[in-house]
Amino acid sequence: MLMAQIFSKKTGDAEVGLPGDHQGAMEDHCQLSDLEFSKFSRLIYDVAGINLQPVKKTMLDGRLRRRLRAVGVSSFAEYFKYLQTPEGQEREMVLMLDAVSTNKTDFFREAKHFDLLTGQVLPALMRKNRQIRIWSAGCSTGEEPYTLAMVMEEFCESHKNLGYSILATDLSTDVLAKARLAIYEDSKIEPVPTTYRYKYLLRGEGSRRGYHRVAPRLRRKVNFQRLNFMDEHFAINTEMDIIFCRNVIIYFDQQTQAALFEKFYRQLAPGGYLFIGHSESLHEIDGKMRRLGPTVFQKK
Ligand SMILES: C[S@@+](CC[C@H](N)C(=O)[O-])C[C@H]1O[C@@H](n2cnc3c(N)ncnc32)[C@H](O)[C@@H]1O
Repeated sequence: MLMAQIFSKKTGDAEVGLPGDHQGAMEDHCQLSDLEFSKFSRLIYDVAGINLQPVKKTMLDGRLRRRLRAVGVSSFAEYFKYLQTPEGQEREMVLMLDAVSTNKTDFFREAKHFDLLTGQVLPALMRKNRQIRIWSAGCSTGEEPYTLAMVMEEFCESHKNLGYSILATDLSTDVLAKARLAIYEDSKIEPVPTTYRYKYLLRGEGSRRGYHRVAPRLRRKVNFQRLNFMDEHFAINTEMDIIFCRNVIIYFDQQTQAALFEKFYRQLAPGGYLFIGHSESLHEIDGKMRRLGPTVFQKK
């Protein structure tokens, strides 16, 4: 039976707000110049590895503009200077990265990966006779790790002794806050199979009509943490059996992709699996990993 509940205001209404919103502090005619675009895109590349091509100038202009207003400065030059100050480095850099990262995601996105997971990967990993460790790397607002949790719960129902844990990380504190909250508009849960909706989602009522929330037992299975792929060492002290890093490296250049692949490779347990997005490719993999499909690889 569908569990229905009105989400309590305390948990449901928490919002990740921007600091004091100084509307109109910036002149509307002030646009990001080519020089400013190259300064900001260099900074974003250095800090987050995100490679913004000049065609993204209008997009960057729009996204940064919101931060200028929030901080209360009137030009891109002033905002850039502020980002170099200790306060800017400590507080604003994270919020600037929140604003410029692209977070599109869905439940059961690229669904073939989940078929391969249950049909091939999990039966092979079960032989290890211990908990399966999964990492959703670049998890955005949580749809990917919660999909993984649903799939794992189903699999574990018919394999009683199997346990699992899911680590989900992202650069953006904004998306992580949404992911922890785990409340989604009804339109977002359309890809979730009906039987899973009944088992793993709570339907909102009253002021929460039109939303679903992931059930607590699933929320408890996912540990969300902030992690920047550009960090020299990842603060993860266990080897992973499965890494999902999908629709992330598409924003990186080849050099950054290669460095990230090395870090993932080190983080994988022997025989572990790496999933990347359907439109992505990683040339460095060949030779080091066995190819199970165009975007699924196993560490030799
Ligand atoms: C398009 S979403 C993909 C979400 C999910 N993996 C999927 O396939 O639906 C890409 C995510 O990568 C994150 N990201 C971008 N650069 C990052 C970095 N340097 N370190 C960690 N996460 C990063 C973004 O914040 C964003 O949430």
